[in-house]
Amino acid sequence: MDKIIIEGGVPLKGAIEVSGAKNAALPILAATLLTNEKCIIKNVPVLRDVGTMLKILRSLGIKVQMTGNRVVVGPSQIKQNVAAYKLVSTMRASICVLGPLLAKQRQARVSMPGGCIIGQRPVDLHIKGLRALGAQIKIEHGYIVAKVKELRGSNIFLGGAYGSSVLATANVMMAAVMAKGRSLIENAACEPEIIDLANFLIKMGAKIQGQGTPIIEIEGVKKLGGATHSIIPDRIEAGTHVLAAAITGGDLVIKKAKIEHLSALIDKLTQAGVSVKANSGDIHVKRRSSNLKPVDITTLPYPGFPTDMQAQMMALVTVTDGISVLTEKIFPDRFMHVSELNRMGAEIFLEGASAIVKGGKRLSGAPVMASDLRASAALILAGLVAKGKTEISRIYHLDRGYEQIEEKLIKVGARIKRVKE
Ligand code: EPZ
Repeated sequence: MDKIIIEGGVPLKGAIEVSGAKNAALPILAATLLTNEKCIIKNVPVLRDVGTMLKILRSLGIKVQMTGNRVVVGPSQIKQNVAAYKLVSTMRASICVLGPLLAKQRQARVSMPGGCIIGQRPVDLHIKGLRALGAQIKIEHGYIVAKVKELRGSNIFLGGAYGSSVLATANVMMAAVMAKGRSLIENAACEPEIIDLANFLIKMGAKIQGQGTPIIEIEGVKKLGGATHSIIPDRIEAGTHVLAAAITGGDLVIKKAKIEHLSALIDKLTQAGVSVKANSGDIHVKRRSSNLKPVDITTLPYPGFPTDMQAQMMALVTVTDGISVLTEKIFPDRFMHVSELNRMGAEIFLEGASAIVKGGKRLSGAPVMASDLRASAALILAGLVAKGKTEISRIYHLDRGYEQIEEKLIKVGARIKRVKE
């Protein structure tokens, strides 16, 4: 297994280009199951999770070719309707083949995705939404077994105990676009990745309105065709690079990012004393003062502060003066990064779904272990500012969601390298 070694203390300077959004690419690749015609998806990031989704499509009998950041799917026919445990268990997002399989094949067997380090990850809202469209669904031997004679449009309330669900919204949308009649999805997820998925489905011939708002209206159609689409930039990768500039006291231009996707993060960074400005299509980040101020964060569904930025923000506030409180309203257990940051000299303690961070620390490099994708990013940020050498092991977690991150950081001055463990 590889590990990453960082010598901290260098203020990052220069320009970093953001890749396509993992969390848009995964449901959009699943949506290609809705047609036998050829689809061309551009700006797809080269990531482990994308590779897993392509393997799942191939396992269903679909022709898939990835060259660089371009994926050509089909023309081909689905040959079998089972998304097997060995692939689905490695990536929760595999669940989003369920909706398209049901719409196209009227049946599906998808392994239960199982929990992961950031929490239980239930699928009750996915099942509730698809049942509302007329599907019969049962859980059998660890698989979600779904079948339907004909999907019929319906009004579906998709809010759960933690608010909206991104992939449940995606799954239900991908089924409703080929249901008979009109569907209304209420308390839908508003994430930019849902808008990108809807825009791809509309290019395929779907009739969707309200994407990006809590109420999505869909008029079912009989058939969908092939389409060409370019994936939106990854707002979480962009946010991670913004924080890399902030934590190292650097001066970075983040290219190809959409600043309008980062409002919650920018609001908090502005409070902390970091200047984040739009700069003709790019984002310019510069620390205004050497002493940053503490900030309190609560993670919420979009446009609230993203849970996928919580770990990275925690790295920043460990070196910010004062006490910051980070509260997780989406995944209350998403704090695996805390013990590793404390090994580097941070002073963080947990109180229920909140982390209390006593800031103003000078982090020191240490051997640490990545536990999940965004925790890995937090450890990289901490390593970039820590005194001395940080060694991060189990970085296969990082490779799930960040394309060429060390190459991008080296280009702006980071002393970072990947070595074989
Ligand atoms: C998506 O996961 C993202 N993954 C996650 O990013 C992200 O953290 C999450 O949305 C929240 O923004 C992809 O898009 C591939 P949810 P998803 O359903 O859709 C509960 C990353 O790092 N819930 O929006 O699986 C759930 O437990 C990953 O890129 C139910 O209760 O998350 C959570 O508390 C990590 N029942 C809340 O809703 C359900 O049926 C939000 O989860 C489904 C979810």
